[in-house]
Amino acid sequence: MKDPFSRRDFLRGTATFGVANLALWAGGCESCVQQIKNRPTRRNISNLAANDPIITTYQQAVTAMKNLPSRDPRNWERQADIHFNSCKHCNWLWLPWHRTYLLYLERICRKLTGDDKFALPYWNWVTHPAIPDAFWGQGNPLFDPNRVATQGEPAESWYIGASVIQNILNEPNFDLFASSKPQSGQDLHFSLNPTTGMLEGTPHNNIHNFVGGDMAQFHSPHDPIFYTHHNMLDCLWTHWNINLNHPNTNDPDWTNFSITDFVDEDGNPVTVSVATTVLFPIFSYQFEPCSLTAGQVGAKLQGKQLEQFLRTGAPSKLEFVKRFELKQLVKAAVDKPAIDAVEVQPEAFRSALEADTRTRVVLSIAEVEVPVQRDFFVRVFLNKPDASATTPIDDPHYAGSFGFFFDEAALKGAEGQTGMVERPKTGFLVDVRPTLTRLNQGGAISSSGKVEVSFVPVPYGHREAFGHLTLGRIELGIARF
Ligand code: C2O
Repeated sequence: MKDPFSRRDFLRGTATFGVANLALWAGGCESCVQQIKNRPTRRNISNLAANDPIITTYQQAVTAMKNLPSRDPRNWERQADIHFNSCKHCNWLWLPWHRTYLLYLERICRKLTGDDKFALPYWNWVTHPAIPDAFWGQGNPLFDPNRVATQGEPAESWYIGASVIQNILNEPNFDLFASSKPQSGQDLHFSLNPTTGMLEGTPHNNIHNFVGGDMAQFHSPHDPIFYTHHNMLDCLWTHWNINLNHPNTNDPDWTNFSITDFVDEDGNPVTVSVATTVLFPIFSYQFEPCSLTAGQVGAKLQGKQLEQFLRTGAPSKLEFVKRFELKQLVKAAVDKPAIDAVEVQPEAFRSALEADTRTRVVLSIAEVEVPVQRDFFVRVFLNKPDASATTPIDDPHYAGSFGFFFDEAALKGAEGQTGMVERPKTGFLVDVRPTLTRLNQGGAISSSGKVEVSFVPVPYGHREAFGHLTLGRIELGIARF
């Protein structure tokens, strides 16, 4: 099947042009430029009144999808099954796959409600860390009674606080920002090698678990909050690309990958290449600026140049020039943080911290057992032996935080996972260069030759937690890309 998003088709999707080879950006077609400028705006749901037509349409669409017969692939359950069976996690397909999911969901909502202007709103958890009021109330189609989080309960700033997200947005490397390439032969549904980057491991995974219930499983799209959560992540990816001008990877294994799991507004299967998804936010929708993106808009690149930048990408593969391995297997639990130290070559660290931004210092946390009880997240600190659940968010030793989004049932039967006799293992990548740079003021790190890494498991929402953390192989590496 052909890619439905050639440049021309993008325009067909947004308006009726019928003219081939439009000189979009060159002023050859002024009305096309206008059409692109006026593409639908995905709004911040916190700025909408309870009776805003965007919310009403979303409610009506969810009801309509629930009412479709189950043989119709646009049926609400069937859409959630797509996620359960085929979602892409812990690898670099995560962002484009979920972006495509949202685009088609949005189109299905338009078609079923007749509201052609509908654009999916996003949940800005940075400024509004509680599930928005629009998702509560018995009888409200946007309500999901299975949630663990309660109305008004805020998610922890450790994984969604402004400084945490800003730090992730400052990450210049695609693999560390967005999750990286899976090893060949890995299951793309859930990659088990350490490829989970910071946007996925931190706000993404943790919000899933914080909301809990359906959201903590691969049937998470049963909860209508799912799509608005992913829309926020899409907003941040868009901001990272377009306003901050950080390039996506140019690896052809990524750009040429075909996403084939979705159906369009008429229920017909579609095939979309990843190379096409990178253009969605310039042709198909735009975002109302959120707290983090406002003020930084005014992108250096516009029009044709921006399109070219997005199409081209840049190399992202991390080449490790030095690795320092931590010694022991680390086990931890809530109230029992773990700490391990690594000897580093002071000289190597000094030069890494002074090098240009294409040198990163990466904490690779590999062979992490996926906990049976994923009722906690993990805070990571450097050189802070007394780090605890109450260490404040602006502590200079804070390096990152990660959680586990996983589904035992979805992985049963996946190769090598039958029966789950052994716990599956996953891994995370955390760029600790900013933390080390802060801590090295005055040469503290480079003179001691030692870095201590603390892992502090913390329960979500002050709930009771019983999970255990087992980390297999931890390395501090200096990498170039
Ligand atoms: Cu595939 Cu946030 O889920």
